[in-house]
Amino acid sequence: MASPKTVFIETYGCQMNVSDSELIKAILSKEGYSFVPTEYEADIVMLNTCSVRENANQKVYSRIYEIRSRRKNNPVLVGILGCMATNFKTALLEDAKLKIDFIAGPDSYKQLPHLIQDIGGKGPKPFDVTLSEFETYSDVYPLREGGVNAWVSIMRGCNNFCTFCVVPYTRGRERSRDPHNIVDEIKQIVAQGISQVTLLGQNVNSYRHDDTDFTELMRMVSDVPGVKRIRYTSPHPKDYPRKLLNLMAERHNICKQIHIPLQAGNSRVLDKMNRTYTKEEFLELAEEMKMIMPNISLSTDIIVGFPTETAEEFEETLEVIKKVRFSQAFTFKYSPRKNTLAMKKFADDVPEEEKARRLTALVELQRPISLELNLEQVGHVQTVLIEEEGTKKSEEDFKARNEANTIVILPKGPYTKGDYIQVEITGATSSVLIAKPLYQKTEGVL
Ligand code: 5AD
Ligand code: SF4
Repeated sequence: MASPKTVFIETYGCQMNVSDSELIKAILSKEGYSFVPTEYEADIVMLNTCSVRENANQKVYSRIYEIRSRRKNNPVLVGILGCMATNFKTALLEDAKLKIDFIAGPDSYKQLPHLIQDIGGKGPKPFDVTLSEFETYSDVYPLREGGVNAWVSIMRGCNNFCTFCVVPYTRGRERSRDPHNIVDEIKQIVAQGISQVTLLGQNVNSYRHDDTDFTELMRMVSDVPGVKRIRYTSPHPKDYPRKLLNLMAERHNICKQIHIPLQAGNSRVLDKMNRTYTKEEFLELAEEMKMIMPNISLSTDIIVGFPTETAEEFEETLEVIKKVRFSQAFTFKYSPRKNTLAMKKFADDVPEEEKARRLTALVELQRPISLELNLEQVGHVQTVLIEEEGTKKSEEDFKARNEANTIVILPKGPYTKGDYIQVEITGATSSVLIAKPLYQKTEGVL
């Protein structure tokens, strides 16, 4: 084969992985690689993987077999990048059925051109799964494609060691980027015509670079001319800075929306998860958020069936949901992860059917709350940012998003992707709002 030059990258997992794939593209395109939209025309397929739950791993394994079979007559090189690479390391390369050609962890993407060169050489299959205390890819400008939102990674890694979570093992220790470097990147993003940025970190509250903390960084980003919407994900309830709430309330370009992972509503379970806050502290924080910003939209993550969680303790999670009234809850069955303390120390003792029952109870409680909150919006005038021309259901509609991060569907009009327009909300389901356009384009958040 001539030296492989076309790459297909498929991304799994969180937004941090989406952002990493943009870094990978930037690194490879500098070396002359180009990118293709499917596995059929690629010389190399790279799967940027996730390990957060078992089904994330399973999806990748079945995808590898599918790619191998689709390219049976013209075999393709396959690399595993991201969290599965650091979680399973060279065991992935040794698996005779998977036939993986190389692996690279989240801190090794600058090595990719070298790893690719070494494929098929005399030595062992190429791999780099070293975790770094310093790598932040600050010197790489991500190759973003076409969206109306720019993901901006402000820090990497995690030091929290929640007992269920694999991330500290797959992404290593926390390190924050220089705020000036972040601001420079955002200025370039704006110059490219993107006006919404989402700051990313495993726990953004832990952001610190010299004297700059997360609130100060948000202030700096909010001051960048041309930035119309700022979001961030995810903060941790244990050390959520109250002064950030005041800044959010003051600044028009910081969206009144917070994703704040609860994980469980019972303090004993939270302690066993090493979350280091209690149910009461979480409720107090949510109250404060609502007091300072009455229109705040809150979303959350919840795990059901953590080891030893009883049915009564789970009821407290339902109680928190009723009290806080999140606009959305992302719900997961506990799945033991390699290397984590929970996997090593606690038996996965909540039966699968019971986990399923709790998940259903959560979803059934949450859905009417989401619907009620959405119905309250009917009749309101909102500014939405058009994200896509055409939706899954209709080519005649725009898919847009309001400040609260809810999807808004409206009929197509004389606007394009990236425009902010004013709409009146005319209908709602538990997951989307329906709207009609009102006036001309506007310049951003109301
Ligand atoms: N099992 C189930 N859900 C998990 N999450 C993280 N680790 C696990 C696990 N072992 C969920 C958490 C986290 C979200 C990204 O994934 O709710 O916030
Ligand atoms: Fe993202 Fe965590 Fe999945 Fe890694 S394991 S891709 S950090 S969600």
